Amino acid sequence: MSVAVLLFLGLGLWAAAEGRRNRCYLNRTEEYCVCYNLSEETIGSLIQCLPATVVKFQGGDVERFIAFPIGELDPSAIEMLGSLIVQKIIIGNVLVPEILLARVLRFFSYTHVRELAYESCIFQGTGDWSDMDGQDLPIRSLSFHNVSSAPLTGREQAFSSLSRWLESLEELAVTGCRVTSLPCAIGRVFRALRSLNLAQNSLSDGSLTPAFCQGAFPQLQELSLRHNNLSSYHGVCEGLGLLQELWHLDLSHNELTADPSSSCQWPASLRHFNLSNTGLDEVPTPLPPNLEVLDMSHNHLRAVDVSLSSLKKLFLNQNLLQAVPSLRNYPMLDTLHLDNNSIGELPRDEVKLLGRLQDVAVAHNPFSCSCSGAGGLQALAATGHLGQGWPGGYRCHSPAQYQGWLVAQVPVSVPHCDLAALVAPLCVALALLGVAGAVFVVRARPCRRA
Ligand SMILES: *[C@@H]1O[C@H](CO)[C@@H](O)[C@H](O)[C@H]1NC(C)=O
Ligand SMILES: *[C@@H]1O[C@H](CO)[C@@H](O)[C@H](O)[C@H]1NC(C)=O
Ligand SMILES: *[C@@H]1O[C@H](CO)[C@@H](O)[C@H](O)[C@H]1NC(C)=O
Ligand SMILES: *[C@@H]1O[C@H](CO)[C@@H](O)[C@H](O)[C@H]1NC(C)=O
Ligand SMILES: *[C@@H]1O[C@H](CO)[C@@H](O)[C@H](O)[C@H]1NC(C)=O
Ligand SMILES: *[C@@H]1O[C@H](CO)[C@@H](O)[C@H](O)[C@H]1NC(C)=O
Repeated sequence: MSVAVLLFLGLGLWAAAEGRRNRCYLNRTEEYCVCYNLSEETIGSLIQCLPATVVKFQGGDVERFIAFPIGELDPSAIEMLGSLIVQKIIIGNVLVPEILLARVLRFFSYTHVRELAYESCIFQGTGDWSDMDGQDLPIRSLSFHNVSSAPLTGREQAFSSLSRWLESLEELAVTGCRVTSLPCAIGRVFRALRSLNLAQNSLSDGSLTPAFCQGAFPQLQELSLRHNNLSSYHGVCEGLGLLQELWHLDLSHNELTADPSSSCQWPASLRHFNLSNTGLDEVPTPLPPNLEVLDMSHNHLRAVDVSLSSLKKLFLNQNLLQAVPSLRNYPMLDTLHLDNNSIGELPRDEVKLLGRLQDVAVAHNPFSCSCSGAGGLQALAATGHLGQGWPGGYRCHSPAQYQGWLVAQVPVSVPHCDLAALVAPLCVALALLGVAGAVFVVRARPCRRA
């Protein structure tokens, strides 16, 4: 069994200097187990991790196992690997000799591990991956965060040996790895990939066209390019034009500019678009036509005047808007966030429409607490659809007498405010009286016959 465990660690024939305290800790409620600096001496504590579905190996030095003889597994070892319930393995802070990884990766085929993640690792050297020729693995999700390795270009042999497995992979994340380009051939291997996360890299507009070339990532539905080096809204649109299944695109945290004269069309499949924190001072056009979720928060927008007939969620918090966008442009809307803008008042007819949404947030705006201003907000709050920010996040900016007050505390009752409501019936009454009086006077006069 200990041989099996060693192999299962695979990636984890951990060694550490002797005399250090090394061991595994299981959190039963979370079915999560962490092993620090696991070494040959303390490998017994890995038994603790048997009830865990997620196992993390943190730290250690696997280099010295390169010379370790790794042959075929005996049937009992295979059975033991098959009985493990672990589904996700995370490997953190390790120097991984690729030559070792190439030799042990195939043992995953006896397990139920579906997710494999490397964090802050260094892959050293290049391995011979021929053992993986034609081999499939149960792993469907692979992620690398803050990992460095030998360059991917010129590694066609490795990709070809791994292709049987890679073409069945569904999720891939390569984040915080200083990636500047992705060869076209790589995308063509990932035929079943649904989700690709390339956040926190250094991709520029020009690197998208080769990465998402004809035939690359044909099933891709979700793509994150958050926090990269993208600069042109239309350049990105042109670079992603071939992704015909794309459903969710995250471009947040890039400094984008939009060129008004471009007519690039986004994939019609796009439903969820994140343009948060992209330095935009106008809503870029064209937007994908069938959007359901649009996040343009944390920008410099002064007005939003677009219609999107299928839009359900619109996030515009942290902008410079002075008015609520017209809800008539979004007949399907259920969520609208407008916190941290420059909105002074909600017009009465908009309050009615806003009250029909499921989730509205307008906190941290410079509210005018006139009767109609405070009254409108209080009426909206009474619908119960204002989010958690009510009442604390809603304060008056004007008039002077209410500055700093909670909007909720401003009196909008009849004697304070609805003077008009009192005055109007009074006027009508007076007018009626007047008419009655006039009629009386007329009637009271003796009739003069002509
Ligand atoms: C693991 O080893 C590192 C140094 O390599 C040490 O700083 C850390 O405290 C060790 N962790 C445990 C839990 O022993
Ligand atoms: C397990 O994790 C939960 C949730 O994070 C935590 O509340 C609990 O204290 C942990 N248990 C142990 C034994 O660490
Ligand atoms: C990234 O990984 C390296 C080791 O490869 C580590 O020294 C560094 O602290 C990590 N950085 C972050 C931000 O986690
Ligand atoms: C970002 O892209 C520009 C060109 O578009 C390039 O000059 C610059 O070096 C890139 N920055 C990084 C950090 O990759
Ligand atoms: C958009 O991206 C930002 C930052 O990356 C994130 O905080 C936000 O939740 C995302 N919006 C949506 C609607 O998923
Ligand atoms: C609005 O701004 C406040 C204070 O600057 C901040 O605490 C809050 O998180 C912001 N809310 C949103 C939704 O941006």
